[in-house]
Amino acid sequence: MTPVRIGILGFGTVGSGTWNVLAENSEEIARRTGRPLEVIKVAVKNPDKPRDISGGDVSFTDDPYAVVDCPDVDIVLELIGGTEPVREYVQRALTNGKHVVTANKELLATHGNELFRTAEQAGRVIAYEASVCGGIPIIKALREGLAANRIESLVGVINGTSNYILSGMKENQCSFAEMLGKAQQLGYAEADPTFDVEGIDALHKLNILASIAFGIPLQRCTDVYCGGIGAISVEDIAFATELGYCIKPLAVAKRSEHGVEMRVHPSLISEQRLLAKVNGVMNAVSVTGNAVGRMLYYGAGAGAQPTASAVIADLVDVVRTLDCDSVARVPHLAFQPDALAQVPLLPIEQTKSANYLRIQAINQAGVLAEITRILGEHEISIESILQHGSEQHEEILPVVIVTQETMEENMQTALKELEELDTVIGKGNRIRIESLD
Ligand code: HSE
Repeated sequence: MTPVRIGILGFGTVGSGTWNVLAENSEEIARRTGRPLEVIKVAVKNPDKPRDISGGDVSFTDDPYAVVDCPDVDIVLELIGGTEPVREYVQRALTNGKHVVTANKELLATHGNELFRTAEQAGRVIAYEASVCGGIPIIKALREGLAANRIESLVGVINGTSNYILSGMKENQCSFAEMLGKAQQLGYAEADPTFDVEGIDALHKLNILASIAFGIPLQRCTDVYCGGIGAISVEDIAFATELGYCIKPLAVAKRSEHGVEMRVHPSLISEQRLLAKVNGVMNAVSVTGNAVGRMLYYGAGAGAQPTASAVIADLVDVVRTLDCDSVARVPHLAFQPDALAQVPLLPIEQTKSANYLRIQAINQAGVLAEITRILGEHEISIESILQHGSEQHEEILPVVIVTQETMEENMQTALKELEELDTVIGKGNRIRIESLD
């Protein structure tokens, strides 16, 4: 049986992990594909660097075009990351008639519409299971397993680094900076950790998930609301715990009457929810379909082997469809390309949520009345208020207010007015509460 010949771009954590899993499980994988797989070329920055790889020899090059232009390569694994010049490599591989497997969420979230078009015109596939949630087969689940459903919503913890940081801050009562340092040491964070802590990595993943869940084109990333975890303090985590909540870095996509809601930001969720128990670097996505109900997909969202697991699952899928007519394949974005719906993305101001609000207020008579007056004027109803006095009678005390579900626009105006009060010190810390109903 002739082997399927593979070229790899990038041999970092995911590339070398893929190589090792391919070598370790080669027989099992060949039993699935019906053909052996052979890596024939790998493009890296430094081909002379010694590498700890097992199970065979391979030709390293520092020229990515030696892979994407190589007539012997059938499938290219793009495992470099980032957008440029990777977009050009992927375009070139497709127009050269190669299928592409990628783990690159940023590339797809920002250029996916155009790349999928190129692939369709070339009759080739871009497979991207590894781009979202590492080893969890969430793309396959949404695109194929749940194909009977109208997906109503998905809510996920889809960035392992920020989940690791918030879980660690809670468990060890340590600061954000300390936990970020640990995450970087352990290799969880992206090359630029701001992508993790500012929600950008999760935004890229959410863009892909929402597109295949709702059958809409990938959105412009700058249109999707995105907030990071940098402002969460150990004090917020303690108050949230006292109120029966956990703080999680959530990505949310929902259908609503007027469009689609997509947002990434830390949220309080009831500690009774399964998502609240997703700790450390683990990921989970809760999906609600109108036929199946609510499902939860949980697993390792990052790391060499879990991500390699997803890369190779795609590889197996692509090999199985090598001889198929391209129209018979699963569409890239789950729905037929000419059936994608143009649905408006709702601005964050038009969304609703309950809120946790921590305000540093001067400890004197009438302050609470001023705060609640402003909330009342903006139709913000209070669910509960928490304030701890102390024997030292400090001059400034935190006041924690939980609101009922509120229009975001009203909340933003009220927050501005609260900041302007002489009795309120600095900016309040507001965290949305996700009911997950
Ligand atoms: N930096 C990512 C995360 C890894 O922390 O989830 C894979 O996307």
